[in-house]
Parts: sequence; C-alpha cells; structure tokens
Amino acid sequence: MNIKNILAEKVSAAMVAAGLPEDTNPAISLSNRPQFGDYQANGVMGAAKKLKTNPRELATKVVEQLNLDGIAEKIELAGPGFINIHLDQAWLAANLNNTRDDAYIGVTQREVAQTVVVDYSAPNLAKEMHVGHLRSTIIGDAVVRALEFRGDKVIRQNHMGDWGTQFGMLIAHLSDKLAGNEVAETALADLENFYREAKVRFDEEEGFADRARDYVVKLQSGDEKCDKLWQQFIDISISHSEDIYQKLNVSLQRKDIMGESAYNDDLSNVIDELMAKEIAVEDQGAKVVFIDEMANKDGEPSVFIVQKSGGGYLYATTDLSACRYRSGQLNADRIIIFTDARQSLHFKQVEIVARKAGFLPEHVGYQHCPFGMMMGDDGKPFKTRTGGTIKLAELLDEAVSRASDLIKEKNPEISAEDLANISKKVGIGAVKFADLSKNRTSDYIFSWKTMLSFEGATAPYLQYAYSRIQSIFAKANVASDALGQIAIVEPQEKALALKLLQLEDVIDAVISECTPNLLCNYLYELASLYMSFYEACPILKEGISEEVKHSRLALCQLISKTLNQGLDILGIEVMERM
Ligand code: ARG
Repeated sequence: MNIKNILAEKVSAAMVAAGLPEDTNPAISLSNRPQFGDYQANGVMGAAKKLKTNPRELATKVVEQLNLDGIAEKIELAGPGFINIHLDQAWLAANLNNTRDDAYIGVTQREVAQTVVVDYSAPNLAKEMHVGHLRSTIIGDAVVRALEFRGDKVIRQNHMGDWGTQFGMLIAHLSDKLAGNEVAETALADLENFYREAKVRFDEEEGFADRARDYVVKLQSGDEKCDKLWQQFIDISISHSEDIYQKLNVSLQRKDIMGESAYNDDLSNVIDELMAKEIAVEDQGAKVVFIDEMANKDGEPSVFIVQKSGGGYLYATTDLSACRYRSGQLNADRIIIFTDARQSLHFKQVEIVARKAGFLPEHVGYQHCPFGMMMGDDGKPFKTRTGGTIKLAELLDEAVSRASDLIKEKNPEISAEDLANISKKVGIGAVKFADLSKNRTSDYIFSWKTMLSFEGATAPYLQYAYSRIQSIFAKANVASDALGQIAIVEPQEKALALKLLQLEDVIDAVISECTPNLLCNYLYELASLYMSFYEACPILKEGISEEVKHSRLALCQLISKTLNQGLDILGIEVMERM
C-alpha cells in the first residue's frame, strides 16, 4: 500500500469537487513535525496562485469536500493554505495487521510488469576487478532486486569488456606460457601481474608487438587456435569475477554475461545502417556522427566516432548494437546502465544516435546512472599505499578480517564457526551499506572505522537491531503465528506504524531514480525508531498485559521482516545472534 497515493487520490477528488481543474497536483508530502500532522497536502497554494485567488479560502473549500472518514482522525488548515492530515491510529493498525501475512509486506505487485534491462558490473576481463567496479556491481544489484520485489521483469546484462586489441597481446603471452608447459589456471592466477608482463613484452620485446597485432587480426577473423586461447583467457577471468560476486552476495550469474564480443558480428551492420541513413559520414577515413544536439557554445557539433580509419570498431559501436539488441530482441521497456560518471558523455551520445537510427524506439527508456568515485581518507582516489589500484578481492578479505576482530572483542566466548559466519555477513554488509547509503552521484570517502561502527547508519547497526528483535522472540516463548493483533497506542508505536507503511513509497523512489541510498536511509530510520520504541514500550516486563505483549511482539515481528527484506534487497545478510 502507498498512503501517499491514497491521500493524493482523496485530496484530488476534493480539489475537483471544490472547482479546481482535474490535473491539479495535490502535492502530498510527509510532515516533518508531528504537530503538523502525519502528512500534508500543499497543492492548494500553487492552484490558488494560478487562479489568482485567496489560498486560505480555497483550502477551506477543499477541506469541506475532503472525505477521509476512517482514514484520518483530524484535518487541519494551517498557515496560508496547508492541509495537515492526522491519520487515524486504528486505520494504521488495521493496515499493519493486513500486511503481516503478505509475502511482500504490503508492497503491491505491479499490475503491468515492465521489462527492464539492467547493465551493471561489467568488468574488463583483461584485468582483475578493482574497487571501481564495486559501485556498479552493488548499486546495480540493489536496483535489480528492488525492481523484482515490485514485480518488474528484470533482464541482467553483464556487458563485460572481453574484446578489443589488448587481447592480441594477452593471448600471445598466454600462448607462450602454455608452450612453456604452464597451466592456464596458474598462469592467470593473478591477472594484474599477467597483464603487466604482457605489456612489458609488448613495449620492449622485439617482434612481440607484431605478433600481438597479428593475433588481433586472427581473432577477429575467427581463427580457431586464437579463439581457443581467448576462450581460455576469458573463462578464467570470468571465474575470478564470479568469486567476487559470490563473496559480495550479488545475484549475477554466468548466463547474464553478454560481453562486448557478443556484438562483434553486428558491428558492420550498425555502421552500414548509420551510413545508409546518412547519420554517420566519412571523415578523414573514419566514420563519424556529428551531433548537433550536443554542440558546444561555439556551435561546433559533438563528434562521435563509430569506426576508426583503419576499420576498427569502438566501445561506442558496441553500445549502439547493444541498444538495438536490448530493445529489439529483449523487448526492453526500459534500459538502465550503471557506470562511473566519466562515461556520462558517452551514453548521452549513444542515446541520441541510437534514437535517430531507430535502434532505440521512443517508448523505450534509456537511463545512464552515473556514480561518483570512492576516495581514500586523504580525499584522493582510493589507492594502495604505493599508489596501485586496490583489488576488490583483497578489500573484501580485509573487511571480513576487521569485522572478525571487532566481533571477537565484543564476544570473546564466540565459537569459531559462529565467528566466521558472522564476520562474513558483517564485513561484507558494512562495505556494501557504506557504499549504497551514499548519494549515488557524489564521490565518497572510504572509511573502515565508520562503516564498521555499531552506531549510526551502518550495516552492523541494522544487523544488530535485527538480531536484538530475534532475541526478544527467543525469550518471549510465543509462537510467531500465535500472535494477536497490533494496536497502536503510544507515540513510538505510531511512528513505527507510519514508517512501516511507507515501504512501497520508498521502493518506488529507489526504482524510479535508481537510488538505493533512499532504502538505506529508510532502514536506518526504521531501526532507530525501533530502538526508541524498545526503550519506551516494555514488552516482556512483568505487569504487561497479554494483549499489549502480543501487540508489541507482532509489531516487532513486522519490523524484523521489513529489516530483513530491506537488507535483502541491498544484498546484505542478517543473523539471529551477533
Ligand atoms: N566495461 C566498462 C568499464 O569497465 C563498462 C561497461 C558498461 N556498459 C556498457 N554498455 N558500456 O568501464
């Protein structure tokens, strides 16, 4: 359910009954202070301005027409024309009780599911995945899970960088290693190292660069031996990525890979079509689209190269082909792509050209979702002490080991098995939550200390809130399906009720803007409200009636379900004890 939508509908009807046009926006928002009610309808002011009439008088008329029987206990007019709505506690309680047995805890399923293609993670297989790919992977995966939770059909596309001239150099090097009787798995155990070795040979060793170029040509013409080497290389590289996905609790699988190489055969068609439609033109031997829509301030069009003068294709060509495949073959209604902000210009160009060429029909949404960089605590891009790129695998191992130290300190008696299990969930959860909770588009500072804290908006805080509720249930000794009805009496209970019933609203915002940080915020607020409730409203204390005990336990149960579900959308695991 979505309270905001319910109120919007009612207020809209009242506005129309008061003589306002059908399309008047009721502008419903959450009140920021309880004395202004729970929700406010602020749309009258805008409407009055348009009609040049007195807002207060207009608001009075709207309130007269507003029927919120059974929903609100009080409707107040405030200031120049705000309508403050105080919701009825019994109505809130009834709605909460309705969501208790719902698999989606009150989040309605879309009536018409959209097909959403989500392009995320997309590491370059020539190298190991590094921290830069962390953001794309976990933000993308959170949005994917939110879409699925709401009932959309998601098609994951891992647009891996598995093609291009550097593969000539890499497979030439691999071929030599195998000739020297090395096993591919061992040779490629450290991709970073392997790449470095190959590059040194490419730059310094007589004849190697020529061989590498030769391999590129052979690879592109489908030479069998080259193809086998390449396949070996990418298989091993993919399995490195898969280890990371598993560690990160990310839902990407091998079947979701649709790498750059998969578009190879279509690239010449893309160029032919762009040329035939006179969208691309020949320019100094290359094929280029001049994009007037993106001209600079001197009126010079933006230049988008789709084929190099030597005939080679580019990242851009592949993305145009991907547009056509996704809208034509996958029947996408919406395409979402997660990469860092430095690629924003590229995707703007891709969209304009793809729309012109008809690769991306008007009804298909195309959303590039850029994100900022991860910075070290010196405010500079996150690097190792010696300035190298930090490998994701090492970063995640460090997170788990730091979490383990913390948990051991808090609980010295813990068994080795529990410790390993809990540290994994806390360590990985901490890294993910720290990242997901930031505004997507800004850079952020990576700090072990903040992300592993048990206070503030962190994964450990939320996981702790969850396990605290489980421990109440362990003590309460009431079967979870034998609980009575929730009644809303205390202000802390009402605040929780309102928060719990906002889940759909939050999920919708996450989905439309691709901003998991809104869900992080929401879960943090929910956990904090739970903590205040726990202080103020005793559950198992002597003298508490069975009815109250049941109501509060049932509320706890709903909070714990919501925390669990919300964290699951973020790909963060919870535990019974910690
Ligand atoms: N492999 C690219 C990179 O690491 C990201 C690919 C994103 N997706 C796309 N359709 N271009 O920068």
